Amino acid sequence: MNLILLGAPGAGKGTQAEKICEKLGIPAISTGNMLREAMANGTEMGLKAKSFIDAGKLVPDEVVIGIIRERLQADDCKNGFILDGFPRTIPQAEALDQMGVRIDRVIDIEVPDEKIAARLSGRRVCLKCGATYHTEYKQPKTEGVCDVCGDKLVQRKDDMPETVLDRLKTYHEQTEPLKDYYAKKGNLRVVEGQEAVADTTALTMKALED
Ligand code: AP5
Repeated sequence: MNLILLGAPGAGKGTQAEKICEKLGIPAISTGNMLREAMANGTEMGLKAKSFIDAGKLVPDEVVIGIIRERLQADDCKNGFILDGFPRTIPQAEALDQMGVRIDRVIDIEVPDEKIAARLSGRRVCLKCGATYHTEYKQPKTEGVCDVCGDKLVQRKDDMPETVLDRLKTYHEQTEPLKDYYAKKGNLRVVEGQEAVADTTALTMKALED
């Protein structure tokens, strides 16, 4: 199954991508994680992306389209994939269509803006392996340490409240129109994000089946 997860920053795309990956055994592909990895490694692309990400803006289309074009050719995508955070603009969605990529389902996770800031302020991430935690909803076994790889957990710079507001603005202006784009294609399903992760997961799994 080829899937796209849509939703505002902090709506829970990454969390749900992980659950679907466990259930269906297909890779979760996060452009955000790939860009953060490039930043951590100090690559040319990472350095270019940093100023956009830190300001809550989108990285230029041609950069992320190039990343996805290459990633989807990998062997592990043959039986399907979950795109988390791509596409984020109409030109990115059109590029995916032009690559001849079939999309079976688009899940849009809806969470009101008012709840987003609280969720993101508690998020902690592992910059080494991309695992995500939350000070309230998903605590690591040892405080400040990644369960998966043992690296230290940090707060993303773009999770600071003022940058979250910029990311939400960018989302409403540039990404939200994708809901209409996929609704017209008939493969959009809307999931209302719940307070408990497990409840959102139950709704997400149902949206994959119907
Ligand atoms: P990216 O990393 O994709 O950030 P985002 O879309 O803003 O999404 P987040 O990772 O912030 O949130 P999420 O929806 O995955 O939520 P999560 O599951 O972590 O992108 C970062 C930046 O990279 C962008 O701003 C942009 O600059 C650039 N970029 C990336 N892709 C790009 C593209 N295609 N084009 C251009 N630029 C691009 O959940 C959030 C927190 O809430 C977690 O801590 C979680 O534990 C917690 N939580 C609490 N309750 C729940 C619940 N009920 N369900 C799920 N999670 C919950």
